[in-house]
Amino acid sequence: MSFQEQLAARQAEVEGWLQQAFQPRADIRFNGLLEAMRYSLLAGGKRLRPVLVLEFCRCCGGDVEAALPVACAVEMLHTYSLIHDDLPCMDNDDLRRGKPTNHKVYGECTAVLAGDALQAEAFRTILTSSLPADRRAACAAALAEAAGTDGICGGQFLDMAEEEKNSTDSELTDLQARKTGSLLMAACRMGVLAAGGTPAQERAAAAYGMAVGAAFQIRDDMLDELASEAELGKPIGSDKAQGKTTFMTLYGAEKCAALVKEYTDAAVSAVSGLQNPDFLQTLALSLADRTH
Ligand code: IPE
Ligand code: IPE
Ligand code: MG
Ligand code: MG
Ligand code: MG
Repeated sequence: MSFQEQLAARQAEVEGWLQQAFQPRADIRFNGLLEAMRYSLLAGGKRLRPVLVLEFCRCCGGDVEAALPVACAVEMLHTYSLIHDDLPCMDNDDLRRGKPTNHKVYGECTAVLAGDALQAEAFRTILTSSLPADRRAACAAALAEAAGTDGICGGQFLDMAEEEKNSTDSELTDLQARKTGSLLMAACRMGVLAAGGTPAQERAAAAYGMAVGAAFQIRDDMLDELASEAELGKPIGSDKAQGKTTFMTLYGAEKCAALVKEYTDAAVSAVSGLQNPDFLQTLALSLADRTH
C-alpha cells in the first residue's frame, strides 16, 4: 500500500467509527445539540490527530483496533477546540472545513454547548474503552494535560490577550506549543500509551509531536496569508484582521518555510529508532508543504 492509500485507510477507519458513535437520535428532545455536534465532527477535516494515535500504537506493537476509540476521542476534543476557536468572542470566523461555522448555523449558545459536550464525550470515550484500565487512565491524563490550563486553554488565552499582539518569538513559540502543539504531542503519546509502550517510545513520540506541532502551526500561519479560501476551507486573512502576531508577521514567508523544514527534519529523526517509522516520517514530510 502506498502512503496515500495507507493514510486514506486510516482516515476511513476514523470516519466510520465517528459516524457509528454519533448517529442521529430522533427519540431525544435535545437532538438539536447532537445535530450541532455531528455537523462539525463529521464535516471532514484531515483527521491528523487520530491518525497519529493509530500509527504510534502500531509502531509500538499495540492493538490498533482497540486504540480506535481513543484516536476518535482526540478528534472530538480537537473539533470542540475548533468550534470554540471560531466563536465571535474568539476568532470570529464564518467558515470551517469548507462549511459555515457551527455558531453561524446553530447560534452561539448551541455552538458553546456542542463544544462542551464533545469535550466531555472525548473523556467518556477513553474511560469506557476496552483498553486495560491503566492504559485508559494514562490516555485520559495525557489528553487532559493537553486540553487544560497548560495546554490548549492556556495557549488560546494567550492567543486572545491584547498584550500578546507584540509578542517576541520565544513568547509566540510558547503560545503555539500550547494551543496547537500540546494536542498533537498528546495524540502521539496516547498511541504509545494505548499500546503499553516503553518510556523511550513515549519520549520519541513526544519529540515527534512537538516538532510536528511547531511545523504545523507555522504552516497554518503561512496558509492564512498564502492559501486560497476554497482550498483551505476556512477564511484567509483571519489572523491579520485580528491584528495577531503570527509566525508570518514575525519572520515572513521565506524564514517560515525554512523553519517548517527544520522542525520537520527534527520530527523525522525523532522516530528513526522506532519499528517501521516510514509512515510517520512521510506524514511529517507531507505536512510540511500541505495546502489545507
Ligand atoms: C486547525 O487544525 C487548527 C490548528 C491547530 C491550526 P487542522 O488543520 O488539523 O484542522 P482540520 O482538523 O483538518 O479541520
Ligand atoms: C487554533 O489556532 C488552535 C486551536 C483551535 C486550539 P488558529 O486559530 O490559528 O486555527 P485556525 O486557523 O482557525 O484553524
Ligand atoms: Mg485561533
Ligand atoms: Mg482560528
Ligand atoms: Mg490559523
